Amino acid sequence: MILKEIFFVITVATAISAEYVSYKNYKVYKIVPSTDYEVQILTDLRKENQYDFWSDIVAINSDVRIMVAPGKQAEFENYFKSVEIPAKVVVENVQEQIDAQLRRPANRNSNYDWTFYQPLEEIFSWLDQIGRDYSDVVTLVTIGESVEGRPIRGVKIDFKKRNNPVIGMIEGGIHAREWISPATVTYIINEFLTSTDPDVRFMADNIVWHLFPVVNPDGYSYTFSTNRMWRKNRSTLNHTTCPQGDDISNGIDLNRNFGFVWMSVGASQNPCAETFAGHIEFSEPESRAIANYVMAIKEQGHMVYYFAFHSWSQMVLVPFSHLEGAAVLEAPNYTDMYEVAIRGMDKLKAQHGTDYQVGTSADILYEVSGSSFDWVKGVAEIPIVYLFELRDVGEFGFLLPSEQIIPNNQEIMAGLVEMEKVTRGMGYYRIDDYSSGGKVTFSFVLCILGLFVAMM
Ligand SMILES: *[C@@H]1O[C@H](CO)[C@@H](O)[C@H](O)[C@H]1NC(C)=O
Ligand SMILES: *[C@@H]1O[C@H](CO)[C@@H](O)[C@H](O)[C@H]1NC(C)=O
Ligand SMILES: *[C@@H]1O[C@H](CO)[C@@H](O)[C@H](O)[C@H]1NC(C)=O
Ligand SMILES: [Zn+2]
Repeated sequence: MILKEIFFVITVATAISAEYVSYKNYKVYKIVPSTDYEVQILTDLRKENQYDFWSDIVAINSDVRIMVAPGKQAEFENYFKSVEIPAKVVVENVQEQIDAQLRRPANRNSNYDWTFYQPLEEIFSWLDQIGRDYSDVVTLVTIGESVEGRPIRGVKIDFKKRNNPVIGMIEGGIHAREWISPATVTYIINEFLTSTDPDVRFMADNIVWHLFPVVNPDGYSYTFSTNRMWRKNRSTLNHTTCPQGDDISNGIDLNRNFGFVWMSVGASQNPCAETFAGHIEFSEPESRAIANYVMAIKEQGHMVYYFAFHSWSQMVLVPFSHLEGAAVLEAPNYTDMYEVAIRGMDKLKAQHGTDYQVGTSADILYEVSGSSFDWVKGVAEIPIVYLFELRDVGEFGFLLPSEQIIPNNQEIMAGLVEMEKVTRGMGYYRIDDYSSGGKVTFSFVLCILGLFVAMM
């Protein structure tokens, strides 16, 4: 009790004293490499970890965004002049965009909504509330705890309580600074519970969904309390001296820490890198918690889906992230996954005109290993698996304005609904296989009633 109170006081004191890292006059530059040589220059620069690369993509004609601190801008600009690659300033002052993103609407009612980015505490109290309001269908789940003592929380939504159900899992917030991801997953939860759209209802009612909006709670919380641009977890295991400031070495990229072709490509053993994969696979409790949970729910029915939400780039990545060209076919069900995603993205685009690319990471981004969705496909052997890179394509990047949360979520919902239909159409599952006797009896009664009414 006393210990708990002391801990509370310390926690509150740290929260208040911790200063929010300022990005005043940090600039974001846009560079579009047009030759292999220019790609090489950028790739080498990224390895030096001097600057914060916002883009995952460094390829010919890709739009690379790099954030640079005020004290390093002259050096940065001179370097790009010397190698004769144009570097255009696209954001003059990063802090202004951060401030805009933290602003809350003046006249909001007290209900949880998607008009601004909700901090962790509010996401958690909303989960508690839906746990109470929908207690017949929602089960609150905690799959693990972070070192800083935060739970990894989510919900299981089960409307029909069937035996051997079709199962899907959705993961959000593995990268702390990608705020649109938790906002998307909470929106999907809300749609599953409240939508009256027949297609959404079908998807929600007939599949048991497990949704985890913030699987890196320490990192997410840190982006609100201390540093908006944080990506990794808050591990202090490999603390060291880094060119961009030593705090950067605290943390492991959870999306490089999973035990499938771990550390083969697109991940780093340097704690100062944003893609530091940890000193061994599954070193982190968050990645272990996700993996154990997937293995456990897989036993409870027919698990078909796993979706991970990230930002930004507007892409649907199909596993495996280390394969490109003809080798992509080594992933079981690849052609189906590809077609499902293409058709889903047509419906997504029909909402607000947003374009998404589809392909493996190695094909459309760059090679990656150790990510959660590749592990789910490669080791847990779940058939339909994707990683979504949400809005936008770089104009705001991680600092996507609050006004875009709802349109982003609407289009994603439309995409998911279509993907479910197409997957079902391909024979990955048949909902009536799993229906309970109750439904049949009910339709029978309705039918008799209908006949009776017709006769009158
Ligand atoms: C991050 O990494 C450290 C070191 O491996 C681990 O102990 C910790 O639980 C991880 N998670 C968080 C949220 O810090
Ligand atoms: C990180 O820390 C672990 C545990 O102390 C150690 O085994 C590993 O070599 C370290 N890795 C790096 C890259 O410093
Ligand atoms: C998905 O791939 C697995 C492994 O190759 C295969 O057994 C299964 O039949 C495929 N599913 C469908 C519906 O094609
Ligand atoms: Zn990410």
